[in-house]
Amino acid sequence: MAACGLDFGTSNTTLGLVTGRAPALVPLEGRHLTIPSAIFFPPGQAAFVGRAAMTEYVEGTPGRLMRSLKSVLGSSLLEETTPVGRERIKFRDVIGRYLAAVKARAETESRRSLDTVVHGRPVHFVDGDPEGDARAEGALREIANSIGFRHVSFQFEPIAAALDYEQQVRAEEIALIADIGGGTSDFSIVRLSPERHAKTERADDILANDGVRIGGTDFDRRLSLGTVMPLLGLGSPMNRGDINVPNAYFHDLATWSSINRLYNARTLREIEEVRRDARRPELIDRLHTVVEAERGHSLAMEVEGAKIATSDAGRGSIDLDWVERGLSADIDRSGLVTHTDELARRIAERIGRCLAQAGLTADRIDALFLTGGSTGLPHVRAALTATVPNARIVDGDTFGSVGTGLTIEAARRAA
Ligand SMILES: Nc1ncnc2c1ncn2[C@@H]1O[C@H](COP(=O)(O)OP(=O)(O)OP(=O)(O)O)[C@@H](O)[C@H]1O
Ligand SMILES: [Mg+2]
Repeated sequence: MAACGLDFGTSNTTLGLVTGRAPALVPLEGRHLTIPSAIFFPPGQAAFVGRAAMTEYVEGTPGRLMRSLKSVLGSSLLEETTPVGRERIKFRDVIGRYLAAVKARAETESRRSLDTVVHGRPVHFVDGDPEGDARAEGALREIANSIGFRHVSFQFEPIAAALDYEQQVRAEEIALIADIGGGTSDFSIVRLSPERHAKTERADDILANDGVRIGGTDFDRRLSLGTVMPLLGLGSPMNRGDINVPNAYFHDLATWSSINRLYNARTLREIEEVRRDARRPELIDRLHTVVEAERGHSLAMEVEGAKIATSDAGRGSIDLDWVERGLSADIDRSGLVTHTDELARRIAERIGRCLAQAGLTADRIDALFLTGGSTGLPHVRAALTATVPNARIVDGDTFGSVGTGLTIEAARRAA
């Protein structure tokens, strides 16, 4: 029996275990140490997870793709059911099936049986709702138990990232840890040193902990609403009255965790009715095409891809040729900033609250440790670094620091 650290992220998952002396992430899909938090249910067959799930969907295999499952934790959706093939299953069971598959992969890969887990969790699953946070953690605990983990404990994701970073710290310092992921942005202010790293009890070294439910998927949504959805009719007028086409379809289509809600006969009929009274019916035809063909996730993947290309290379293109011949949307840095700057600002504002919680001024922070995929967004990075003028900027393992830290914690708790 062995212990592991599990970072179930909104977008990606890692699992690490202590083999010999060092904590190490386990390959979960081929040689990849990370696996997309995605599951695909083809009717009447076993589900696919990770990259394979995305590939099945992209290649047009009939079935249902789900991503951003973590977003439903802490919401009432968790107990609701979703149609999967001929059955309906609860979202909590969808998460259970996904995590069971991840656990099985890790067990096969490591030839060990895992019975103990240190599960990562964001500081807040939901904003301003301590009961919602407790419910979400409780649900994750039940899910972990149901897939065979007998001993389940939790650690905040940014504290885990701090433990990973501390492995490279050579002298005592105060660090601000920023983990900007797919669903949440989490921060800790911690006192770190090589001597302290060996201790199990670290409560005194944790000076602040806070987070906000904003992550990369929110940037995807804003970008989609700003650049793609207007091409599908968002904001276009109806023929009568001084009103526009209803917004709700576009919001669902732009939100990873809501896309599947559109895939039913009633919604398609509604869209057809809207089309009849729309001043630009040719735009609503595009919406209808995407919903009828159940290609909402393809659209979201295109938008996410363009966001990443714009982050990395300054521009990106959203190919919509499959919606309508020749259709596409281009995006550059200034467009990305225009549509998402407010999110970047709200993320960075949390640092002020953390500093207040720690009773420190910004100039006392020696190092800013960055992890999580959304630290790749240049304007997010700029907003974060501007808050701590004296800090050294340290780039962590973008997709692995939290998982590695959870594994370090698992080793300590098991000792
Ligand atoms: N180069 C990049 N530039 C901008 N964003 C990126 C880049 N690479 C990945 N992302 C975004 O990072 C997010 C995923 O990051 P990460 O894997 O750290 O999140 P997570 O751990 O799954 O989520 P969370 O911790 O919030 O539950 C996605 O929204 C993805 O689009
Ligand atoms: Mg994460």
